[in-house]
Amino acid sequence: MSTIIRNGRIIGASEDYIADIFVEGEKISAIGKNLQVAADHEINAEGLLVFPGGIDPHVHLDMPFMGTFSSDNYETGTRAALYGGTTMVIDFVLQTQGKSLASALQEWRGRSDGNCVGDYSFHVAVTDFNEHTKSEIRDLIEKEGITSFKTFMAYKGALMIDDRQMIGLMQEVKKHGGLVTVHATNGDMIDYLIAKFRAEGKLSPLYHYLSQPEVTESEATGRFADLAAYTGVNAYVVHMTCEGALNQIRRIGSENKFVHAETCIQYLMLDASLYERDFEGAKWVMSPPLREKKDQSALWAGIQQGAVQVVATDHCPFKWEQKLMGEKDFSKIPNGHPAIEHRMELLYSEGVAKGRISLQKFVEVNSTNAAKIFGMFPQKGIIAVGSDADIVLFDPNEKHVISASSHHMNVDYSAYEGVEVTGKVKTVFLRGKVAIHNNEVRVGKGYGRFVRRNPSKN
Ligand code: URP
Ligand code: ZN
Ligand code: ZN
Repeated sequence: MSTIIRNGRIIGASEDYIADIFVEGEKISAIGKNLQVAADHEINAEGLLVFPGGIDPHVHLDMPFMGTFSSDNYETGTRAALYGGTTMVIDFVLQTQGKSLASALQEWRGRSDGNCVGDYSFHVAVTDFNEHTKSEIRDLIEKEGITSFKTFMAYKGALMIDDRQMIGLMQEVKKHGGLVTVHATNGDMIDYLIAKFRAEGKLSPLYHYLSQPEVTESEATGRFADLAAYTGVNAYVVHMTCEGALNQIRRIGSENKFVHAETCIQYLMLDASLYERDFEGAKWVMSPPLREKKDQSALWAGIQQGAVQVVATDHCPFKWEQKLMGEKDFSKIPNGHPAIEHRMELLYSEGVAKGRISLQKFVEVNSTNAAKIFGMFPQKGIIAVGSDADIVLFDPNEKHVISASSHHMNVDYSAYEGVEVTGKVKTVFLRGKVAIHNNEVRVGKGYGRFVRRNPSKN
């Protein structure tokens, strides 16, 4: 099957030009002006922006967490992602403490394989680094194509590792060319504050926010960056929310070292005043929590400066009845919010349409940088001859309003209800097939493919 996409304005991390794209099978086979080719289908993209498919490297689908499961499974989550132009996600396998990484991977593959609509990969979260775990790292990288390892500096007793384990993991991952990522917050300090507020009878969602002050994140980010610099491992901080953490990334840069940083769309546009809405604030209970307006400005500046390379979602949805598990105690509210469907449109609207970032920066943080950092470039993250034909046709002028009544995520509220967005995903190609066209899905469960990744070079 072949398709010619005519006269779109192709945007890359450093490109902006009008041309035709010829797609044969799953790949882009030619790009040029007035291509003379015989194609099975022709699509007119005049007036539309043409982006590489979005990559969201931080999602949690069908994840067991805080006594329940995130409400989007691999089918509903990857389908919702496609509606919003995200053609690939990277999810997290969580090791159970006391068990192996291999058994966790098997468990996660049992839920994901054959069920995805869009493409996917995994990071493996190491929650118990010991001699056996150490021996599994090489195989994951070389045999499974899983090259990134997640660590948690919080959620003690379930996911958190200490600095001793962190150093050991970093040295082992470095040996085999992988990447260590981190949820960087000071778990002990957070647990102390949670216990204190609970003892004082302060139980509303506002105290979730107050139990994770900025210092819990900036301290852990700085500590992680120092350990990473000492070991020389390729390192990445997930869901960075605040100026203090960003300044730690900048500080390590000023010491001629480098740590990658990701923020998420919610931290760029929502703020902590939402926690003042009594229990409704539970919709935005996530870790780390939403911050202040000054942090939003810092993060946009960090994107501009290249200190923040990726905008993800940390999509981890829970239905309202699940959020109600914490009605009487904020520490029991399942942490996470839904965003997988709207990341790309929100980022375009808040970033490009409002003049905060260029089209090229948008493509970098929406797609290209994640492909490079996580070892999938140039298969993914770029519109180029030989790359996967993951292509989004985007109307930069169409306005629409986000609502739970029209979204495709398996959750009964929207964290962005009523937000007006400028820019709309019109058509999405995933490996050469039309996956979405005018709000209609055209591929089914099982079309999504597991993407093996390489160690990244930067
Ligand atoms: O609140 C969040 N972020 N839930 C998902 C787990 C994590 O920490 O990323
Ligand atoms: Zn996290
Ligand atoms: Zn997460």
